[in-house]
Amino acid sequence: MNAALPAIDRARLPKHIAVIMDGNGRWAEREGVSRAAGHEAGAKSVRAIIEACRELENIEVLSLYAFSTENWRRSKLEVDALFRLLSKYIKIELEELHKQNIRISIMGRIFGLPKKAQADLQHCIDLTKENTAMVVNVALNYGGRAEIADAAKQIAKDAVAGRVKPDAIDEATFAKYLYVPQLPDPDLLIRTSGELRLSNFMLWQMSYAEIVVLPTFWPDFRKPHLYEAIAEYQARQRRFGGRVKK
Ligand code: FPP
Repeated sequence: MNAALPAIDRARLPKHIAVIMDGNGRWAEREGVSRAAGHEAGAKSVRAIIEACRELENIEVLSLYAFSTENWRRSKLEVDALFRLLSKYIKIELEELHKQNIRISIMGRIFGLPKKAQADLQHCIDLTKENTAMVVNVALNYGGRAEIADAAKQIAKDAVAGRVKPDAIDEATFAKYLYVPQLPDPDLLIRTSGELRLSNFMLWQMSYAEIVVLPTFWPDFRKPHLYEAIAEYQARQRRFGGRVKK
């Protein structure tokens, strides 16, 4: 079975993989089912990528873009279906995630989510907070610009209160005000379904991420696609603005 997987070097895995899970709607259209059914199928891919990352052992963080600040523009029917799915997913999967020693982290304007979702998410965070094998960081009601604006607002408040000196604000200080400052920046961003956009995802943290775009619709994404993306990442030379290390 594993023979069919693209070859990857387990000693050089990205520490943090971020994913824009795109194409649920187009998959649904192709299959002749509802958009909600497309998201439901997408949830199976979420399970598959978490399992595959966990199995690789040295991936520290997997960030998943599940609901953006712009997604509220979708029909109420679709938005409601997405949050119902989230609660259902938590009910079915949380125990196994916990057993796998996975810590759940949430980033975004959580207070703007439906109350039931907030309660379910808080339960995930509380239950898994001591887990150490891997972090699954889910972006919900998340926007990269909103995150930067929220950080700026908090820095301004701290400056007014005398807790931070304006002249002392540098990149490291600013980064401490982001939603999940303790996580490393993504090394690899995977976007499915062929679109070549960041779509407001982790704008600050993506500065030096390698971007791999796959044509696959998210509901079709499985372990071989993850390995393909990692293999492409490993074939790149990361220079971080400097010269290639010899
Ligand atoms: C993008 O497809 C996908 C989303 C906006 C939602 C992502 C949600 C899931 C994968 C479901 C479950 C998630 C969790 C964390 C349990 P799209 O609808 O924009 O597709 P399209 O561009 O083809 O219309």
